[in-house]
This record gives sequence, C-alpha cells and structure tokens, in this order.
Amino acid sequence: MYGGRLKLFHLSDIHFGLEDRLALDWARACIAREKPHAVAITGDLTMRARHREFRAASAWISGLEVPVTVEVGNHDIPYFNLYERFLGPYGRFKAIKRMVESELDLPGLAVVPLRTTTRAQYQRFPWSNGWVTGKALAQCLAAIDAHPEGTRILVAAHHPLTERRHDGKLLTINGTRAMEALAGRKVMAVLSGHIHDPFDLVAETAAGPLRMIGAGTLSRRIRSTPPSFNEILIDGDDLRVEARNLEHVATPDMQIAEVPENALPPREPGEPVAPVGTVPPVDPPVH
Ligand SMILES: [Fe+2]
Ligand SMILES: [Fe+2]
Repeated sequence: MYGGRLKLFHLSDIHFGLEDRLALDWARACIAREKPHAVAITGDLTMRARHREFRAASAWISGLEVPVTVEVGNHDIPYFNLYERFLGPYGRFKAIKRMVESELDLPGLAVVPLRTTTRAQYQRFPWSNGWVTGKALAQCLAAIDAHPEGTRILVAAHHPLTERRHDGKLLTINGTRAMEALAGRKVMAVLSGHIHDPFDLVAETAAGPLRMIGAGTLSRRIRSTPPSFNEILIDGDDLRVEARNLEHVATPDMQIAEVPENALPPREPGEPVAPVGTVPPVDPPVH
C-alpha cells in the first residue's frame, strides 16, 4: 500500500570547518520556508571531527525544524585521537545523538540507515572508503523487514555502495552484496554522499535494478559542481530528484554519470595531484 506525496531534502558533506556559509544559509532558508517532510544528511558533517566542528554542525542541524536523520561519514570519527577513534568514535555526536543513524518513519515510507563508515579496515589503508560489514547489513535488512509489505523504503548511507570502479579499483567493500540484498527487497533508492557531486543512477544487480542517488556537497570542498542538495519528491512509487543549487545549473548538468573513487576534482592527464590536506581549486560553474 503506497502513501501520499512526500518531499524530502537530501543533504550531504557539509564539512563544518570548510563549510560554504552562503550555501548553508540558503539550504536552511529553503528548509524553513518549504518545510520538507524530512531531511536526510548522508555524512561528513565535519572536516576532521574536531570538537569545534561538531559544535557548529550540531547547532546548525538542531535548528532545522523538521525530522532529521544523520549518517556518519569517514570525516566524522576522531582522526587525531586514536584512543577515542577506537573506543568511542561517536562520542562527539552527543548533542544530536538521537538523530544519528536513526530511522525516519513517514506516512507509508521509511528512511533506514546503513552504516558504511568503519574505524579501521584490515584490507587497506587509508580507511576513507566504505565497508558494509555483515553486522551493518543485517541491522539494515532487519529494520527494512520490520515494516509491513508495501512500505516504501529509502536507505541512507554515507558511501555509495558501488564495490568496484570500471577499472577494477575497490571502492565499497561488500557493496555488491548489500546492493543485491536491497534490490531484492525492492528498496526505492539508496541515498549517499561522499563524492561531492550529485548523481541519480540505476545499478543492475543479480536481484534486479537498484536506484542510487548521491547528493553533492554544501562545503567549499567541491569536486566538479557547485554546492547543492537534492530535493526528492515521492508520489506513489514515483521518485524524482532535483539537484538544487544557487547557480541555477540544470539537474542533468549537475549529475555525474558514474560513481568516482573520491571527492577530488577530476584531473587533466599529466596534471599533478594536489598535496593531501589542500583545498581543491574551485572549478568554474557548469552551465
Ligand atoms: Fe565528504
Ligand atoms: Fe566521505
């Protein structure tokens, strides 16, 4: 049984510490004015999980007067304090704890979290890419299965679930298995961040197609498109996405065609890689 029309805003990668103030003020004004049914924030609230960045993120998110779910990004677990990283990685979220990895239950639709960020990965270093552990997937599937048949389900994760890039490079560990399980449950779409460019793709899995929707960034750490967030309109089983941005770039021009490895801006052949920790140059707006 399908419910009525719903409007969600999908925000991601605000990266307090390097946030885009103008874009954030605009996003907050849109939320206050349009009152979407809910806001899903798919991780990377901060740059380096510093206390002051979490204070700013928590204050901003707490001021949104609509239901909010927040996923944890790879930038949100303590980076410099290894003791805290391993023993209490979510401690700095305490001001918005009730929203973190929390399910949103709306009329006829649920937004279910799927954790893809881990404290460490024995398969590789650095640990910035995604990993869907067996436990994380089981929790997500149990939450989906608890809903009555016909409930529309959106899954919210930080990393896109794509396991391998076209050239074979490993992206999200166990992503293929997770995508098959979600496609088999007829999930409407998986919402994710991490890439800093929006996309709206359909992945073919062994269990059928799965829609993958990525939001851009509201930070100054842009990849190839200006700061943006996704407006998601759901009517019955129809779901439409608009990548809203201050520069009025049309959604098809905002959305990239393939999930890339990371949020770094695309490079020309032979161009040197920017040193780690530097802010990528601002690309000219795409019109
Ligand atoms: Fe990010
Ligand atoms: Fe990320």
